[in-house]
Amino acid sequence: MLIASLKPRTMGGTTNTGLLAYALARAGHPVTCYDADESLQLAAWARDVDDFPCQVHEADTPAFATTVYPEMDHDRINLVDTGHAENHVDIVDSVLEVADLALVTLSPTKPEYERLTKPERGAPLAKLIKRSAALRDSGQPPVTVVLLNRCQAGAASPKTYGDLLTNGGKDGTEPRWDVLTTQIPRREGIASAVGFPCDKPERKAPYDALVTELTKLGHLPVPRRGV
Ligand SMILES: Nc1ncnc2c1ncn2[C@@H]1O[C@H](COP(=O)(O)OP(=O)(O)O)[C@@H](O)[C@H]1O
Ligand SMILES: [Mg+2]
Repeated sequence: MLIASLKPRTMGGTTNTGLLAYALARAGHPVTCYDADESLQLAAWARDVDDFPCQVHEADTPAFATTVYPEMDHDRINLVDTGHAENHVDIVDSVLEVADLALVTLSPTKPEYERLTKPERGAPLAKLIKRSAALRDSGQPPVTVVLLNRCQAGAASPKTYGDLLTNGGKDGTEPRWDVLTTQIPRREGIASAVGFPCDKPERKAPYDALVTELTKLGHLPVPRRGV
């Protein structure tokens, strides 16, 4: 399968992609990563540490669907980090053409919510996802879930923005999103994760919970035992 880690112009995409790769591997999944962001920070992370759990292939191409996807081992969990959709729309379009699951990273703040729902420039991410249906074999857009990140413990904002996303905005006229129950907390140990080993509990627990939730929702295969 292919999981697309996407974002509008929000922050935390590579952190979430990399730490999810570690968690998938801990759960016993065979994982391969693809870096479809021109900044290639996921690929650099894998080069810089000894414990990165899988290969990261450079794949920052708008021909992702036709050149990268056909070469994948589809029995593995393939995880692609895309650059932000505002400036890399051609790559994101190509990834959405073939992804089985889209995971959207968003922090519960006004600027990030507005980047998702009404960006000043470019098409809103919901539109990119919807229009991908026309290019997909199924004729349907990929299953899409929102992962709230940088959530402050005890703050009202995750619920406030979670409700806005779930309910289609204040008046219910905007796109509705499936927001995961798992939230990635705002933590220094996570802020400094990219490029470093996954050696701190806070880099593991929220992402293990994410894998558990995605599995329960039927979005991931049940992990192999004893791997
Ligand atoms: N859970 C978190 N808590 C605190 N800071 C975070 C968290 N996740 C990401 N960040 C910070 O957000 C910034 C962008 O992260 P990064 O993963 O590189 O984003 P992107 O790939 O979307 O550009 C970094 O400075 C990182 O330290
Ligand atoms: Mg990045």
